Amino acid sequence: MTPHRIGDLNIERADGIAVLTIDRPTKLNALTNAFWADLRAALTMVETDGQTRVVILTGAGEKAFSAGGDIAGFADMDGGQSEMRAFQLDAMAGFGAIERSPLTVIAAVNGYALGGGCELTLACDFAIASETATFGMPEAALGLIPGFGAIRAPEVIGRPMAKYMVATGARISAQRALEVGLVQAVVAPAALMDEACALAARVAAQSPYALSVGKRLMNRQIDQTAFDYSVEAITMLQCSDDRAEGVAAFVERRAPRFGGEKA
Ligand code: COA
Repeated sequence: MTPHRIGDLNIERADGIAVLTIDRPTKLNALTNAFWADLRAALTMVETDGQTRVVILTGAGEKAFSAGGDIAGFADMDGGQSEMRAFQLDAMAGFGAIERSPLTVIAAVNGYALGGGCELTLACDFAIASETATFGMPEAALGLIPGFGAIRAPEVIGRPMAKYMVATGARISAQRALEVGLVQAVVAPAALMDEACALAARVAAQSPYALSVGKRLMNRQIDQTAFDYSVEAITMLQCSDDRAEGVAAFVERRAPRFGGEKA
């Protein structure tokens, strides 16, 4: 099928497999504020094309899967609660669209998977990573927490490991991610897409109806309550003085000076 582009997402489809590539390598595939709507549109497109059976989500270039939410884009938001809440609802709907997709979505993690990049990995049904991939949720350095990761990481990698990653902002290796269950396979960088496609082909050969029913069954505990709570929590943090300081510090390439006060 003809390749498509929606925002920063390239969409290529062949043999029942759709590869969605986050293509903004000069910014380490940081996710713009428009990304979440683009992701939902791309998923809807492949879910309804009558051919796609499995999706691979990856990043362009060798350095990053995604370095997370576009921090400079955060700085452009005026800080009003309604704008922050709308943004967070939009982002959470993006993660939700992966989890609720009838298609199996595989993350092929080719480099940094930080913040939203790590959370996208958590939202996918399973993940394969290159040996050079690293994972982290460093949002607390920006006065934030990972809104989706805080919900999903505890059940995927265990509560203490999730807290360790959020509290320290530490990056873990692909091998460590394999050990804690964040990814299911680690391969040489050059083999990543071939291996991801081989996995996807195996999935595509199964009954799509059975797999969509199985995904719904295995995701049955996923409910809206945690999402709603998370949206309010992140809205509060997005409006805080610490968040303003954390984002300014990133943009100015300096260490943040947190006061710990709420706006
Ligand atoms: N949002 C916006 N821009 C980002 C970004 C992000 N999350 N991550 C990286 N970039 C941009 C940098 O600003 C830089 O842009 P520039 O060349 O126009 O200055 C470019 O991508 C390359 O990043 P740089 O920091 O120079 O690369 P590095 O190899 O020195 O460091 C990282 C790589 C991933 C360690 C570092 O970019 C980083 O810490 N990024 C933020 C990660 C993060 O906190 N994510 C959570 C966001 S909620």
